[in-house]
Amino acid sequence: MAWRCVLVVVVAAAMGLASSPPAPEALLLKAKSLPCPPEANILPCTCHASTPYGMTLDCSLINTNDDLHRVFDTTFPFKNFQKFIIKHDPGSLDNKLTEITKDTFHKITFVNVIIQGTQIQSIDENVFSYSHETLRQLDLRNNKINDFPFESMVSYTELDTLLLDHNELPKLEKFSSASLVTLSIGNNPNLLFTFDVLENIPKLENLNMEGIGLRQIPQHMFINLTSIFTINFNDNDLTKLEEYTLDPPNTSVGRLLLANNRIYTMLPDALTGCQPDAIIDLANNDVTELTQNIWQPLLDQVLGGGNVYMTGNPLKCGCDMDWMFLNTSTTVSADVYPPILTDYTTCFDGTQVRFLDVCIFEKHCGSNSCVN
Ligand SMILES: *[C@@H]1O[C@H](CO)[C@@H](O)[C@H](O)[C@H]1NC(C)=O
Ligand SMILES: *[C@@H]1O[C@H](CO)[C@@H](O)[C@H](O)[C@H]1NC(C)=O
Ligand SMILES: *[C@@H]1O[C@H](CO)[C@@H](O)[C@H](O)[C@H]1NC(C)=O
Repeated sequence: MAWRCVLVVVVAAAMGLASSPPAPEALLLKAKSLPCPPEANILPCTCHASTPYGMTLDCSLINTNDDLHRVFDTTFPFKNFQKFIIKHDPGSLDNKLTEITKDTFHKITFVNVIIQGTQIQSIDENVFSYSHETLRQLDLRNNKINDFPFESMVSYTELDTLLLDHNELPKLEKFSSASLVTLSIGNNPNLLFTFDVLENIPKLENLNMEGIGLRQIPQHMFINLTSIFTINFNDNDLTKLEEYTLDPPNTSVGRLLLANNRIYTMLPDALTGCQPDAIIDLANNDVTELTQNIWQPLLDQVLGGGNVYMTGNPLKCGCDMDWMFLNTSTTVSADVYPPILTDYTTCFDGTQVRFLDVCIFEKHCGSNSCVN
């Protein structure tokens, strides 16, 4: 009996409590806030800890720069956060968050940062500098950013994912990152970059450059990327693919998205390095002919279950594509190619390419061995 009493007193003293044991509800409240800061101090932000190490701080209800400063000027008992979130409705007039100054977060570190829909135009290179060794995902989509410190990305040694879509960036600066796997910078209209912009991002697997007003993919842009898997150039102004547009060192490409451009032709060897089951999306372009010297090498890359989507192209379906239907010494077998184009690829008049009559090609293009 006696030692139990002593223990309670010792524990109470260690917790800085009065000598009478606290009511159970009070203990519960305390247990709930740690390791998060006291709720009242950080309003309107909220903090929750799914595990003692996984704190998420959600500041979506913050409307102004001053609000943000006030929250982070309070004392945080623990400084290492898993996630920091600000998700604003970009159309809301209440949203007056225009900047995050470099000392805003003091010494607080983050693993995932998600700031979306704000009025922020510029990110200072030191805003997240205490997160150099922790930051894995930086998601700044859908803001008004026209100035981003690409050169400082080299310092974020764990950075895996950088998402900058739907901003107003005029330029993707060449930068270095030994860790980056995903770079998404689509829908920044008229984004400029140099042919060697990816040279120092050796682990890159996923690149999204959709909707950036691109007229030409620079030759050899992917020449040093040993693991590139997804490439998205949808919704651009591409017209012609030069040779070596896609020439990665390995056959690593699994998704090549070139839909909704104005591509009417490509040169032989424009696209190489696709996996046997790759999806190549060329839907809604201006291709009229599928000549053998250009298109067979592309289809031959994806014979292991891959597809080339060409719906929405004004294909003539003339003798230019007879090689897909007639067995020749250079084709694997005539029945192999049309299915790769799927049921959705049609000629200019809506006929499905896959089900074109072999005899038409035999009669008009090849040696006529059809019976009628
Ligand atoms: C590829 O690597 C070589 C050798 O490091 C370099 O000279 C070249 O500029 C790189 N090309 C691109 C497009 O990254
Ligand atoms: C990819 O290419 C590099 C350089 O050409 C090579 O060292 C590496 O083994 C290749 N990886 C695979 C998975 O083929
Ligand atoms: C082409 O060859 C395949 C396999 O050898 C055969 O099944 C098919 O009927 C041939 N098609 C034509 C049009 O000759």
